[in-house]
Amino acid sequence: AEFPEAFEICQQFTISHDQMIEVIERMTKEIKMGLARDTHPRSVVKCHISHVQDLPTGLERGKFLALDLGGTNFRVLLVTLISDSESDMISKTYIMDKSLIIGPGSELFDFIAECLAKFCKDHQVERDNLPLGFTFSFPLRQDGLANGVLTAWTKGFSCDGVVGKNVVQLLNEAIARRGDLKINIVAIINDTVGTLMSCAFSSRNCRIGLIVGTGTNASYVEKTANTEMLQNFHTSSKQNMVINCEWGAFGDNGVLEFIKTSYDKQVDKQTPNVNKQTFEKCISGMYLGELVRLIVVDLIYRGILFKGKSSELVFQKWSFETSFISEVESDAPGQYRNANIVLDKMGLRQATDVDKRCLRFICQTISTRAAKLTSCGLVCLINKMNANDVTIGVDGSVYRFHPKFHDLLVHYVSKLLRPGYHFHIVLSEDGSGRGAALVAAAAVSNKQNPS
Ligand code: BG6
Ligand code: GLC
Repeated sequence: AEFPEAFEICQQFTISHDQMIEVIERMTKEIKMGLARDTHPRSVVKCHISHVQDLPTGLERGKFLALDLGGTNFRVLLVTLISDSESDMISKTYIMDKSLIIGPGSELFDFIAECLAKFCKDHQVERDNLPLGFTFSFPLRQDGLANGVLTAWTKGFSCDGVVGKNVVQLLNEAIARRGDLKINIVAIINDTVGTLMSCAFSSRNCRIGLIVGTGTNASYVEKTANTEMLQNFHTSSKQNMVINCEWGAFGDNGVLEFIKTSYDKQVDKQTPNVNKQTFEKCISGMYLGELVRLIVVDLIYRGILFKGKSSELVFQKWSFETSFISEVESDAPGQYRNANIVLDKMGLRQATDVDKRCLRFICQTISTRAAKLTSCGLVCLINKMNANDVTIGVDGSVYRFHPKFHDLLVHYVSKLLRPGYHFHIVLSEDGSGRGAALVAAAAVSNKQNPS
């Protein structure tokens, strides 16, 4: 090989076919334990019940507000469901200061309420008591559709005073403190559930919602009968229940040690949630760039990369953004247009072509492992549902912007799935806002016509 040392390091990140099958088996076990939480209270893949039981029927109509918090952008939306195939969305993205995601919880909710108020006033709906669907992309324990207790922050959030609280109540209190808004929060959902619902609106056999963005997670349609912890719920008369797996936590009990490298352990140490979200830290956008950077730094120390001409920036934690991986891998073979831009941003202008090829190889290694692990998760869920023709709705910056992520998923899922099983992986174009509106619509009509 052209760069044997880099090759050797990257070897630690390869996952064989047999190891992938092992990952699927272990995840299946964890999911079953999560679903049977009454008898397995310490399961790490929590499989939270979403209280969403009906996929879109196409009959949902009306005007709804939606909030979308927890991905790269915080958004407020006004969604109008017009017909079974048509919806209109107006949205605004608000910039969130880093201080908001690590500051006191009350400030976070005051900020959300303030954005909501501004948005509603701009569109003259602040007194309309519109139903609102809240996409909140963190693990919630829910005993109803309109409440959810935060079990832990993930993805770098760490606001005080929110874990253990009902997030809907916190938002209602912030709205009440203002006194200038009338809004009816009817549902709180995970982004994977929003993505699933949004996709199910146009693809009738969509059964999985997947996010590969800042974090990673999936939700899927389970038979109510398979969810032990649901037995006490009146809702169990319906056949299906959407389960928010929270698969990012897979491995937190040690079952993924066999694929972890020293670099994964290093990244983990640098996060506010050490020993948590093991699977997520191998897959999602918050962490992939840092894995690449750590390998690069190692090769610089060994005198192999950027000989004597490295930059200060490359030694700064988290300085290599995951979007750089997508850029580097977007170059055609033998071309370095994007790589040059990335290297320029990193202050590494003196890189040779060998350095550039080596960097691309490292990026490919990290993104391929992420895609393999995501594929394992998907196959686990498809097998669990025993669905032989299923559509998977996907969102998130890694999936959207990485040039090969989609193809890698298709490749590995096909290799791992039983023969005769078909699947389609589709991008959820409009984010999870429409999904939140669809859930809100169902909530409102269920209240009016309880079954
Ligand atoms: C958005 C969805 O499109 O993607 C959000 O509307 C979701 O609900 C997000 O959280 C995930 O991607 P990222 O890359 O922004 O974390
Ligand atoms: C994290 C969150 C999860 C979310 C995922 C994708 O894993 O805990 O709730 O769905 O990120 O945004």
